[in-house]
Amino acid sequence: MDRDKDGLLLKVRGLTKSFEKNIVLDDVDLDLKPGEVHVLFGENGAGKTTFTKILCGGYLANSGEIAIEGRKVHIAKPADSRSLGIVAVHQDFSLVPQLSVLENLYLGREYKTGPFLNKRKMAKEAKAYFENLKIGLDIDLYKKIAVLSMEKQQVVAIARALLQPLKILILDEPTSNFTDRETGILFEHIRELTQRGVGVIYISHIVEELMEIGDRVTILRDGRVVGHIESNADITKENLLKGMVQRGVQKVQQALTTDLGDVCLEVNHLCTDSGLKDINLNVKKGEILGIGGLPDSGKSLIGRALFGLEKITCGEIKIRGEDIAQDIKPSRALKNRMIYFPAEKLDGLVLCRDIKENATLPSLKDKFSSRGILDKGREKDAVSGIVEKLNIRPPNMGKRVCYLSGGNQQKVIMGRGLLKEAKTFIFDEITRGVDIASKVEFYEIVAEIAKDSDGVIFITSELTELLDLCHRVIIMYGKRVKATLRHEDATREKLVHHILGLEVDR
Ligand SMILES: Nc1ncnc2c1ncn2[C@@H]1O[C@H](COP(=O)(O)OP(=O)(O)OP(=O)(O)O)[C@@H](O)[C@H]1O
Ligand SMILES: [Mg+2]
Repeated sequence: MDRDKDGLLLKVRGLTKSFEKNIVLDDVDLDLKPGEVHVLFGENGAGKTTFTKILCGGYLANSGEIAIEGRKVHIAKPADSRSLGIVAVHQDFSLVPQLSVLENLYLGREYKTGPFLNKRKMAKEAKAYFENLKIGLDIDLYKKIAVLSMEKQQVVAIARALLQPLKILILDEPTSNFTDRETGILFEHIRELTQRGVGVIYISHIVEELMEIGDRVTILRDGRVVGHIESNADITKENLLKGMVQRGVQKVQQALTTDLGDVCLEVNHLCTDSGLKDINLNVKKGEILGIGGLPDSGKSLIGRALFGLEKITCGEIKIRGEDIAQDIKPSRALKNRMIYFPAEKLDGLVLCRDIKENATLPSLKDKFSSRGILDKGREKDAVSGIVEKLNIRPPNMGKRVCYLSGGNQQKVIMGRGLLKEAKTFIFDEITRGVDIASKVEFYEIVAEIAKDSDGVIFITSELTELLDLCHRVIIMYGKRVKATLRHEDATREKLVHHILGLEVDR
């Protein structure tokens, strides 16, 4: 590779990586120009994260060449990558949960005065840095990462990256816990960086983001480059989907069941000590009730409260007429055939175990065993049905979950819930990190589940999901119900107004 002839910041040729016999990247080429945002796009498990981890020294490629500014480089470990000016925000953040925010920010590049850490200097710089980020979140530098919300962890992971000198910035689903406002702020920072000539590799499944920030796209499928989009103007949902899937483009909108039954779940004047105020809602048999709002609006608290994870201070939760608010806890909710899918990714997955075990774990006692003995045949049949239905890849039940891509781990969580025989379903951000083709499959599954259910509560920050999938939508603001809209009356504009706490002009 000739030095600087092509003016590229990064030139990757023939990158190939396999894990045992599984070829995850197959002869991948990628060019990154200075000052561009190059999107890496493709379905769950396509190899995007693996590609970035090779650039960061996390994995060693089997073959291929990497050149930075025309010079061939060998990246064997994270330190090599960092000294070349490659900095990444990984999908899993890669923060150390037991260390403080400050310790994480400076891990491996601490300021020292003689042999001692210069904590004051680090704290001063970090504080100024967070202020400069203008993210509007109060982040305590001395708190452990483990106690921070996912949103704040994501900010810390990004801040840690941006605090370093960098030529190439890799962002692997950096906005998965962000509101539009926070995403907007991140994009401002990205623009500043690209103006200075930094090249950005950007990974996300959120099409609107790619349309806004992407200059070019490389599309991966099964570890191979299957397409390119060469200009921002051509980054459209159609082009992305066309490049990404063979399965064809399906419509997002599901046919909504029209014959809804009686009210099965009713919440009256519910308050919690986490701040929910006077929540009233009900869900009918067969109905999908969407709940939208900003991250701190209280929308997730509703799901948690209904499943017994919040302390209830007043009000009623009636399931099929019986009020269970007083001693609600997850076991009671489950007994009442209610199931909850939390927003935190990976929540409760046992990463070192395989797909089958993770999927059946909570159902084992009641469903797959008789008199305490596990019926392996039955377990296997059920799980293989789920793996197929959710298109979990690789479709290998014996695969340990830690080796699955982010989106496929999310599918295992979904599958686990589906194996339980629930009647009332609470989903919180279940399609986060799931690729756009699989999202459609999730919607189909939710619509299907809803038909025979005693009601589905679908908590999401995606407007499209509220608009297209739900019979009715509740918007939360300031931990109260701000508005309830029927499917027929809901428009994007109205939802946004309510989400922001504004009144809708009539
Ligand atoms: N350490 C590992 N050992 C074995 N297989 C792995 C390992 N890491 C990833 N894989 C496999 O490599 C493939 C690509 O995974 P990768 O995480 O790169 O996908 P991705 O494109 O980032 O997907 P997503 O959009 O879901 O994040 C998947 O099939 C995954 O199971
Ligand atoms: Mg990934």
